Amino acid sequence: MNKIRQFKSPGEITALLKQAEYISNEDISTAVYIAGLLSKPLLIEGQPGVGKTEFAKSFSRALGLELIRLQCYEGIDDTKAVYEWEYSKQLLYAQLLKGKIDEILGDAADLSSAMDRLKRFNSTFFSEEFIIRRPLLRAISSPEPVVLLIDEVDKSEPSFEALLLEVLSDYQISIPEIGTMKAKSIPFVVLTSNNARDLSDELRRRCIYLYMNMPDSARQMEIVRTKLSTKVSDDFLDMINGMLSLINAQDLKRPPSLSEIIDWSVSIASAGIDREHVSVSSLGSLLKDESDQQKAFNALWKPQNR
Ligand SMILES: Nc1ncnc2c1ncn2[C@@H]1O[C@H](COP(=O)(O)OP(=O)(O)O)[C@@H](O)[C@H]1O
Ligand SMILES: [Mg+2]
Repeated sequence: MNKIRQFKSPGEITALLKQAEYISNEDISTAVYIAGLLSKPLLIEGQPGVGKTEFAKSFSRALGLELIRLQCYEGIDDTKAVYEWEYSKQLLYAQLLKGKIDEILGDAADLSSAMDRLKRFNSTFFSEEFIIRRPLLRAISSPEPVVLLIDEVDKSEPSFEALLLEVLSDYQISIPEIGTMKAKSIPFVVLTSNNARDLSDELRRRCIYLYMNMPDSARQMEIVRTKLSTKVSDDFLDMINGMLSLINAQDLKRPPSLSEIIDWSVSIASAGIDREHVSVSSLGSLLKDESDQQKAFNALWKPQNR
């Protein structure tokens, strides 16, 4: 059975992620290292926008592996997560084979012997041929290891977690009509949660746990540097960082998220705006509230802050 290649050290993971434009830190890389070492899923919890989903995407790119994503939502069930029978195809095949089926059933003495003969078709019509593979089954069936992202698991109902447990502890899926399907290669599983509800102890026990914090300002600026297509100077990043710390010191209704910080930095860099020319409208990509924009603008223009 193929395994995800084991890493020499957390440092190797940091370097690989950097090549995929993901700025890691020691906590993240160590958790990934341990998850790889023990072939266990990695459960990442944290506020929205701190880089949970991006980690899984970048990790798959860094390793050159396919990313299979299961986006969770309220009401998600096994037909959307694991597999579903392809009824329309079953029906079509049954219609096309009608002559053959009539032939087999035609001389049955009574209804119950016709039923007995019909049951012989079960394994034909309930076989892998008629299965629609959803993300969990696709991840298990892949001959090559994949990165399986089970995103925002806290949005699903608690009953959905029970379904995940079999997959996550044994890397296998039972389909009553077919049997147990074992993983051809163990996927690297990443579960994320924004903490909308508490996840079960059983699920937590099976995972390596990482709480992801909002990157500190040094890591934020490194992220901004990688996201800007043109090379930026340290002075530019110092200017952005300085403005952000002033802005964040205000009592904001909606402090900017990382995505907003990136968008804002990109817009400031490409418009060539410097500290002297920041207007309220140029804050539109950073702050999405009128009073927050005013507070930020006033802080930037206050004489003692200039
Ligand atoms: N460590 C990081 N390195 C590079 N980009 C990052 C990093 N963390 C977050 N980002 C950027 O921030 C954005 C938001 O991150 P995302 O993974 O969607 O957050 P979450 O899934 O935690 O809500 C991403 O689109 C990505 O561009
Ligand atoms: Mg996300």
